[in-house]
This record gives sequence, structure tokens and C-alpha cells, in this order.
Amino acid sequence: MSDTINLQDLLRRAFQSQIELGMNECVISPENLKNKTLAIQSEAQVVTPQQALGNSQETTAAFPSLEAHKDAICNCQLCPLGKTRNKFVYGVGNPNADILFIGEAPGADEDRLGEPFVGRAGQLLDKILAAIQMSRQTVYIANILKCRPPQNRDPQPDEMELCFPYLYEQVHLIKPKLICTLGRIASQALLKTTTPLGKLRNNWQFFEDIPVIVTYHPAALLRFPSYKRDTWEDMKKLKAKYESMI
Ligand code: URA
Ligand code: URA
Repeated sequence: MSDTINLQDLLRRAFQSQIELGMNECVISPENLKNKTLAIQSEAQVVTPQQALGNSQETTAAFPSLEAHKDAICNCQLCPLGKTRNKFVYGVGNPNADILFIGEAPGADEDRLGEPFVGRAGQLLDKILAAIQMSRQTVYIANILKCRPPQNRDPQPDEMELCFPYLYEQVHLIKPKLICTLGRIASQALLKTTTPLGKLRNNWQFFEDIPVIVTYHPAALLRFPSYKRDTWEDMKKLKAKYESMI
């Protein structure tokens, strides 16, 4: 656990140093990341998760905008998915969204078009959003992984670990009031837990100080339509909480 946080910390500092160096293009190659990381590592202290997450400096965005962040990471080759992807799928929506939806990883349609949730599951997500008077233009939608795992296999732990700092930065740039995680993998990855989805759904969770509602993945609703009723309850809870906050 502390190794994970430390790696994220190192990556964040690597990105910070890129900004300080005025690099705003796609500069993260395995070679320069490794060199930067080694340079930073020599002065790095091991931090506990509590220190990392409790330190207010940690919750400040490293990049000036989502666009600048996307430009800096869109040629990422940190994991092997960089070799097999067609398009890097950063995210879509309102950069100042109050609500951030987080899915798992791009599928074939997303990999082809470079936008999250544009396939069948995405069409269902659009309907779910419309049911609570929201849309992909008013909220923000991102995934845990920015690149498609071949054959839509589950994301691997090392892929999620390497990609997580990107989502972390997105959260700190968007500063949503609420987060909704879609499905077990996204929920467990964001919340760093192995608690089953059914249990996580029962209560508001938190990412730093942001309330998180956990619900089913729209692809699960396509396979198991009986989950739709629970999902609708979750969405009503989300909407009510949002209205109580604005
Ligand atoms: N309305 C907004 O303006 N943003 C959201 O994220 C949700 C509803
Ligand atoms: N499923 C996801 O989790 N994310 C997408 O972007 C598409 C399908």
C-alpha cells in the first residue's frame, strides 16, 4: 500500500517537474519517466497513505488544465496497453462538472473513437444521465484505465496502478462535488478496497473528502436487466444529494 502511494507521489512529482520545465507536449516516455523517477527517488521519502492523502498539497492539481494534462499524457507508454491501443481515451464532459462518473476501461468503440462510453453501455449511460436531467456535456466521464485492454479483459493491478495518477489529476482539476463509480472494478480501484460492490452500494463512500456513490456498470445492466431497479435507486440518491449541495 505505501509502495503504491509512493509510486503515485513520484509520478506526480515527475509531472510537476515537466511543467516547471515548460514541457507541455507528450513528454512521458518510459525512458524519461524512468530517469526523472530515479532522480526524484534519490531525495524521496517514503510516505504513509495517511500522510499522502492528508497533506493538502497533495490535493492540488499539478497541471493548469485538463487539456494540458491530456496533451502531456496522451502518448503514454507506461504499460503495454500503450502498444495495443488505437486511441488514448482521456475523458469527456464539462471541465467544471459537479459530478464525475468513473468507468473501468475503454472497449472497442471507445478505442476507435477516443471517447469514453460511446458503445452500447455508453448509450445506456446516456439514458441514465438523461433520466436525472444530466448529460455527457454537463457531467464529466472518465475511466480508471485510459487505454483498452485487449479482448476487453479485466484491467490488471499493475496497469491500474500506473494509470491511477492520471485519474487522480483529473479529480483534482475537475474538483467534482460528487463521484459516481460504475461497477466493481472502478469502485474497488478508486476506493482502494476489496469490499464487494453490493456492500459498497449500501453507503456513501469517500474519495478524499468527496462523497462517492457506487452503482452497477451499465454493461452489467445490459446483461442483468434486474439490476436496473437498484441502479435507479442509486441515481435518485445521487440526484437528491446533488440538489442538497447546490
Ligand atoms: N449539472 C452540472 O452543471 N454539472 C454536473 O456535473 C451535474 C449537473
Ligand atoms: N465501459 C467502460 O467502463 N468504460 C468505457 O469507456 C466503455 C465501456
